[in-house]
Amino acid sequence: MKVLVIGGNGGIGKAIINHVLSAFPDAKIYATYQSTLPQENGGDITWFNVNASLDEEVRQLADKISSLDILINTAGFLHDTAHQPEKSVNEFTPEFFNQNLSSNTLPTLLLAKYFSAQLKAGQQTYFISLSARIGSIEDNKIGGWVSYRCSKAALNMAIKTISIEWKFKLPNCCVFAFHPGTTDTPLSLPFQKNVPANKLFSPEYVSQQLFKVISNAQPSDTGKFYSYSGAELPW
Ligand SMILES: NC(=O)c1ccc[n+]([C@@H]2O[C@H](COP(=O)([O-])OP(=O)(O)OC[C@H]3O[C@@H](n4cnc5c(N)ncnc54)[C@H](OP(=O)(O)O)[C@@H]3O)[C@@H](O)[C@H]2O)c1
Repeated sequence: MKVLVIGGNGGIGKAIINHVLSAFPDAKIYATYQSTLPQENGGDITWFNVNASLDEEVRQLADKISSLDILINTAGFLHDTAHQPEKSVNEFTPEFFNQNLSSNTLPTLLLAKYFSAQLKAGQQTYFISLSARIGSIEDNKIGGWVSYRCSKAALNMAIKTISIEWKFKLPNCCVFAFHPGTTDTPLSLPFQKNVPANKLFSPEYVSQQLFKVISNAQPSDTGKFYSYSGAELPW
């Protein structure tokens, strides 16, 4: 099995790699990092330094990988030292909005643009992006975090659109968005205070849940938005 994890140095990305290493010891893992190369975790892992929001860097990555069974994009952005997600639209800035779109939306489109041939080669393949329930338009009851919400809603539309195009071009590929739930990583750290302990998941738990969804999903399930529980979410 050949697996590519984008954002392999992130909280959930690292746990996905560890899950693959223990559940599929013979797997070939390709993984990317943007800022810091993680410590070696053994196994057959090849690391690439990639900004997955840049067309040329994703194109060059695709040139180095001939075939894939599973591509999992965990790249994402919610806050940095200079910015917190907006409580009100009055706090909106084009700069923060573009930063959200760049990390949360662009990688999926560029990965689909350059990895269709690699995913076409396998018998049953998966193209998965980590999204967030907050990107569901139908599920939006409380507002707020407008830039992150819009970028995940755009990601969801990208996933749905790619799945429709690939139904004919890559009938063996299941394309889906995955909501991990609130997971204990640097991304959620400033917002964990009010999350009940049983609703703050470990990255290890979320990775197990993702692989349960993968093992149950067929190419006919392409174009769905799955929660960590395996339930389908509204777009
Ligand atoms: N944690 C949660 O509670 C939660 C909830 C819902 C959805 N999610 C989603 O789950 C995914 C993983 O989040 P996480 O919790 O693991 O966050 P994290 O620990 O902050 O990891 C985010 C990862 O994204 C990478 N990244 C960001 N922009 C990138 C780019 N342009 N190109 C390549 N890599 C990029 C980061 O790499 P560098 O650090 O090297 O920049 C890092 O590896 C995200 O899409 C997030 O929106 C998380």
